[in-house]
Amino acid sequence: MCGIIGYVGQKQAETILVDGLKRLEYRGYDSAGITILEDGNLCTVKCVGKVNELAQKVRNDFPHSGTIGIGHTRWATHGNVSEKNAHPHFSDGGNFAIVHNGIIENYLHIKAFLTEKQYHFYSETDSEVLANLIDYHHKKEPFLSFSVILQKSLLHVEGTYGIAAIGKMFPDEIVVARKSSPLLIGLGDGENIIASDVSAVARYTKRVVYLNDGEIASVRPDNFSVTTSYEGTVNTVCHELDWEIRDTELGDYTHYMQKEIFEQPISIENAMRGRFTEDGSSTKFGGLPLSPQEVHAIERLLFCACGTAYHACLVGKYLIEKYARIPVDVEYASEFRYRNAPLQSNTLVFVVSQSGETIDTLAALEEARRKGYPVMGITNTVGSTIARATDGGIYQHAGLEVGVASTKAFTSQLTILSMLALFFARGRDMDDFAGQQYVHALKSLPGTINETLKLDAQIRSIAEQYCNYERFLFLGRQAMYPIAMEGALKLKEITYVHGEAFPTAEMKHGPIALISDQSVCIFIATQRELAEKTMSNIQEVKARGAKVIAIVNDESPIWESSCDEIIRIAGGCHPGINPIISVIPLQLFAYHMAVLRNCDVDRPRNLAKSVTVE
Ligand code: G6P
Repeated sequence: MCGIIGYVGQKQAETILVDGLKRLEYRGYDSAGITILEDGNLCTVKCVGKVNELAQKVRNDFPHSGTIGIGHTRWATHGNVSEKNAHPHFSDGGNFAIVHNGIIENYLHIKAFLTEKQYHFYSETDSEVLANLIDYHHKKEPFLSFSVILQKSLLHVEGTYGIAAIGKMFPDEIVVARKSSPLLIGLGDGENIIASDVSAVARYTKRVVYLNDGEIASVRPDNFSVTTSYEGTVNTVCHELDWEIRDTELGDYTHYMQKEIFEQPISIENAMRGRFTEDGSSTKFGGLPLSPQEVHAIERLLFCACGTAYHACLVGKYLIEKYARIPVDVEYASEFRYRNAPLQSNTLVFVVSQSGETIDTLAALEEARRKGYPVMGITNTVGSTIARATDGGIYQHAGLEVGVASTKAFTSQLTILSMLALFFARGRDMDDFAGQQYVHALKSLPGTINETLKLDAQIRSIAEQYCNYERFLFLGRQAMYPIAMEGALKLKEITYVHGEAFPTAEMKHGPIALISDQSVCIFIATQRELAEKTMSNIQEVKARGAKVIAIVNDESPIWESSCDEIIRIAGGCHPGINPIISVIPLQLFAYHMAVLRNCDVDRPRNLAKSVTVE
């Protein structure tokens, strides 16, 4: 949700902090701030709005050359969006500054305790108590090291945190700690950078140490150490990042979402790379530790995810049940974590999360493991919390996704789930020939997506005609139903227009009451076997005045007679890849609608790329 950055080294910290915040902005973007320690003073600039406004303010008022500092970009939870509530926050008296992600659940209790000790508070946030707790422990035991002070402070805290702190008495040290909110240390030469997300450090170093829950780190220019309260000093593992800096740059595109839509042929190719068996009839996944006997013994699969990843799992359910004949349940992670679902033995659980940090998905993972089920992950983020907490899994390799509305991460999840359907099918109930056809279809996918992207201009002109409508219904059957859900979600997320999805034939059981000449119905009619049924449903809404946009994949003239707009995608595609192609026009449609309505495509209101609070 929020983004944290901190720098300690030889360079001017403000430039690195502001640059880091720009790269973290997709995580949260209602206000931002930085604090630099210089000549014994904590110098701060904060502002409401985007990081560019902060950058401007820093250029105007902040000619500081300090080489240590922290910064934050906020997505408000406690306290409205204001400069006062923006981070960094300070201890009363101003000796310590902190930035915090997460929620301090018992902050009122801590606040009452500290108020009794004569501490004053200046913001409405839960985070401010952390700064005063640090000050309290420092005053109580002034000889303690900074990391022990932080450790003692956190003993009072219930909730979640990624925290970074600097203090006037510790001129070359940042202390950080994490519990359920990501933090990492980027290792440089004579400098170190702490951040909540690798995108903030990728331009400075490729060597990264991820903190685990319960760990506290002391970070100085030339070294760092990690401790826990129960183990003392911890041995850390350094990971090499596989990102290029160009992944974080916009290049010739106007928006990250647009860039990421057009990167899909590559991201899908990357999801498949090295994952076909030599005989060309199946897939293999190095990170999935399942023997043929174990694949055979699986009685049920359970997928847990949130948002777009949940829609990908629903598509996966249709494909896995169709081809591998394994029953699949898909649950919202936020529901699963609290509902004590009855699971049968021999259930294999998958959690799917592009960021690998979504707190509900992480909690679902922990719940399933607590009950003794093996849990695999599908994630785009190497080294993320979910990647490290699962028993095995599959990386998406889609590259960094910056646009808050997920596009390439979604289609790479769909690709992996389709490959997983083939993997399970070939281990159970699919012959060699059918396997080869499936592989052939998957290999053709990047080329087909490339062709589909050529519809961009047509889809823009359709969006121009419909951009002032306020009610959109998305209709699809079977695997196209979750694709319709994804189309509706994309539209909602970035245009704020109401879009809702239904299974096409359910329309007449209620939603048809919504239909008027002010409605636009988008039918995903890309299953030939259901074309006639869909045509009847189209007639039903046409008769009630709705505008109809149909996404079809055949040349039949029947569509022309009843639809206002027809978007033709590649025909004759294997059902295992059809949903992946069908979603592309919906992504483009939402994108152009948002641009035409002057919406902030990459930073839609109220949303955050990764939701690390409940
Ligand atoms: C947030 C984002 C969604 C995303 C969901 C799950 O709500 O705004 O775009 O689908 O989190 O994210 P994950 O990283 O777990 O896939």
